[in-house]
Amino acid sequence: MYSRIAGTGHFAPEKILSNSDLEKLVDTSDEWIRSRSGIERRHLADDDQATSDLAVEASKAAMEAAGVGPDDIDFIVVGTTTPDLVFPNVGCIVQQQLGIHGCAAFSVEAACSGFIYALSIADKFVNSGQARCALVIGAETLSRITDWTDRTTCVLFGDGAGAVILQPSDEAGIISTHLRADGQYRNLLTTTAGISVQPEGAALREGFNVRMAGNEVFKVAVKSLESIVEETLEANGLDRSEIDWLIPHQANMRIIKATAKRLGMPLEKVVLTLRDYGNTSAASVPMALDIAIRDGRIQRGQLLLLEAFGGGFTWGSALVRY
Ligand code: ACO
Repeated sequence: MYSRIAGTGHFAPEKILSNSDLEKLVDTSDEWIRSRSGIERRHLADDDQATSDLAVEASKAAMEAAGVGPDDIDFIVVGTTTPDLVFPNVGCIVQQQLGIHGCAAFSVEAACSGFIYALSIADKFVNSGQARCALVIGAETLSRITDWTDRTTCVLFGDGAGAVILQPSDEAGIISTHLRADGQYRNLLTTTAGISVQPEGAALREGFNVRMAGNEVFKVAVKSLESIVEETLEANGLDRSEIDWLIPHQANMRIIKATAKRLGMPLEKVVLTLRDYGNTSAASVPMALDIAIRDGRIQRGQLLLLEAFGGGFTWGSALVRY
């Protein structure tokens, strides 16, 4: 048995922060941000919007698209780096908000690769027959851990959520998933504090911000994504020309172009949302997927390659027949 994507959804909060808004916050320019990253604007959650609120909206859209209700969902997994609370986990909060009872609900922390990790786990539950209707979410309020005085990171991130419903199928939907991590790079992309690690004398959340050695992350990201794409093609005996759409993590236009080049794919076959949403971490792949399904670019039966790379480092891919 396989799992297949029965429906998708996404949600972005209303508030928009443009590059010119950022020019007023830090020493940067619209030109620098666009040319170095490809980003023009990003959506930010309001103070009263938590990660679970974004996740719930994306989930409702995915459930409607799949034609399923709360009673059908029997598995919930959320990829997130920015949970509402330490516990209950975001999955439980989403479960409660959607009126779902009793099924497993949990979150996975793998930074920007969180959705690919979550999808891989849910796929295993569905294709082994242990779940019949899985809700898989990537949701983030990265703005909450962004240091708005650090121009090297604050121009990159945005908030949002994406969700998919996985159901059993006789034919391959999720064909294969590939997960990787290498903690030797942990210090290149990290938060400055956490729950059990605090800088000496710091109050909780003080200094709880993203720090990134952008240039070094960039180099490892390009190499790792190129190799996971090769691995995915090889594992399935596929020629790169058979991929209809690349749905990459939206961290940086130049990283995306390097991966597309390795696949020999023109940019018209790459789903890009970076310009309007920035890097929404674990939400970026499911958001891009839903956007391209809803605007009619991605059609049933097409072959999709999803990939992501993030803090840890973690990275991964999923080959999907939509
Ligand atoms: N505005 C203006 N100048 C800036 C800004 C800014 N916002 N930020 C940095 N600069 C300056 C730097 O200070 C530096 O100046 P210097 O040469 O005088 O020292 C110069 O611009 C170049 O800085 P670099 O860091 O070398 O710029 P780069 O071309 O590498 O682009 C970027 C930076 C966009 C961050 C890029 O390195 C990148 O995208 N890295 C990978 C990001 C990524 O994939 N992250 C993983 C996922 S995120 C997650 O997991 C949460």
